[in-house]
Amino acid sequence: MKNKIQVAVTQRFNGLTVFDRLQFSVRENEFLCVLGKSGCGKTTLANLMTGLVPATQGGVTIDGEPVNPKRHELAFVFQEPSLWPWRNVRDNVNIGLEIKQVPRDEAGRRLDEMIELVGLQGFENYYPYQISGGMKQRVAIARAFAVDADLILMDEPFAALDAQTRQAMQAEVLRIWERLKHTVVFITHSLEEAIYLAERIIVLSDKPATIKGDFVVEVPRPRDFAHPGFIELRKRLGELIGVW
Ligand SMILES: Nc1ncnc2c1ncn2[C@@H]1O[C@H](COP(=O)(O)OP(=O)(O)OP(=O)(O)O)[C@@H](O)[C@H]1O
Ligand SMILES: [Mg+2]
Repeated sequence: MKNKIQVAVTQRFNGLTVFDRLQFSVRENEFLCVLGKSGCGKTTLANLMTGLVPATQGGVTIDGEPVNPKRHELAFVFQEPSLWPWRNVRDNVNIGLEIKQVPRDEAGRRLDEMIELVGLQGFENYYPYQISGGMKQRVAIARAFAVDADLILMDEPFAALDAQTRQAMQAEVLRIWERLKHTVVFITHSLEEAIYLAERIIVLSDKPATIKGDFVVEVPRPRDFAHPGFIELRKRLGELIGVW
């Protein structure tokens, strides 16, 4: 599969070098997890990949062109669900389709499909204050996958959820990705989450962050935490990273 995204960045804030020629690529329709300790630069990387924050040196390209929110279709799911409080569930999922001016009929079909995929049928008319944290993230996921995104960026999207909801959401994202296939960069500091989700995992070092490891995850899906391959990779990542 062809390379979709190329990252080659150096990023400094005043005296602090967060990335020193950090380089990696993401293939089309790949599910890539970026794993790194707190403070190593994961959110900074997500910001650079949106094209809204310029890198100190270098940059990010999509299909060979510098990332540009006006030209590329980018979708985000962050830790805090970013729903519009004055819009109901259906209209929140619709935001991306509206911006893209997808014709009404097609947008309607897409909305129905996405709401069903994330299991929010019956809640279409609820407002964000009437639904749980997990449901809000479902809305954000539905919105991200509703448009034909070049890149879906997720920055610790499940960090605020309880363990059970988190597991359910991981399974859900995988199911949707397997069905719709988009290029996903999923940022996390959880080894298990990365191994459960990713086709490939890159591990960031401490600052200035470079790629400390690059692993293709070959554990068969659906992945079981007790699978020997899962345990083995968990061990290797743990050793590579040291104390988390
Ligand atoms: N706008 C900024 N100005 C100055 N320093 C910044 C800025 N943004 C981030 N940093 C610094 O860059 C480093 C990386 O921050 P970042 O938020 O990317 O880490 P992170 O890996 O996402 O951490 P966490 O896992 O806690 O979310 C930190 O030391 C932070 O203080
Ligand atoms: Mg962060």
